Amino acid sequence: MTTTDQDFYEVVRRRRTVRSLQDRPIEQETLHRVLEAGVRAPTHNHMREWHFVFLKDHDKRQAVLESEGAFSRAPDRKFLDESLSKITNPYHREIYSYSVPLQERMLLTAPETLIVCFRMEKPLSEWERLFELNNFASAWLVVENVLLAMAAEGLYGVTMVPFRTSRVKRLLGIPDDCEIATFIPLGYPKKEPSIRQIKMNLEEGIHIDEW
Ligand SMILES: Cc1cc2nc3c(=O)[nH]c(=O)nc-3n(C[C@H](O)[C@H](O)[C@H](O)COP(=O)(O)O)c2cc1C
Repeated sequence: MTTTDQDFYEVVRRRRTVRSLQDRPIEQETLHRVLEAGVRAPTHNHMREWHFVFLKDHDKRQAVLESEGAFSRAPDRKFLDESLSKITNPYHREIYSYSVPLQERMLLTAPETLIVCFRMEKPLSEWERLFELNNFASAWLVVENVLLAMAAEGLYGVTMVPFRTSRVKRLLGIPDDCEIATFIPLGYPKKEPSIRQIKMNLEEGIHIDEW
């Protein structure tokens, strides 16, 4: 393996979700390189029907955050604790308790907030077979390329998937036949990620010939 090949594995290892960012702006050329890597992702229909919205305006960011049903909210600690009390898994309760207020702040203050969009062949409500998720799957390959390219550039962030997108789409003029894969507030990190990455036991997940 050459040093360049090893660099790839190092970037994969470095990619993490970071929820605390510096104010430092990101150069236009850097963002362009990141998106260039994104659109090299494989796509099931050769069409590469992806769009990227940079959400820069503070009032629009606020309006997106406040769009009913879009994101988990933490307007105050009591509200958050009440919402989280419905979650039964204690690990999930703990990480949401930590991450929801941070992700809210990131959406509003990150140097850049990128929205990755993809074209859909038919409305979400009409999806019936796994095959019909191919556009969605391809969009997430774009997202992973973007996250890896960001790590290679020293940039980090968080993928935030809205629960519901209809109001957000209307607010941002995203056409009906397009869907949002995720929001990615991004920037240069302030500190290392504080949530431990749970390691998967790879050996337990590998099966030969049958499960
Ligand atoms: C499909 C998807 C949706 C996610 N949604 C959120 C989210 O809404 N808010 C958030 O803070 N993190 C979100 N994340 C980030 C995960 O919490 C994070 O990837 C996970 O904790 C593992 O940490 P790591 O990325 O540092 O390995 C999402 C990740 C994925 C892949």
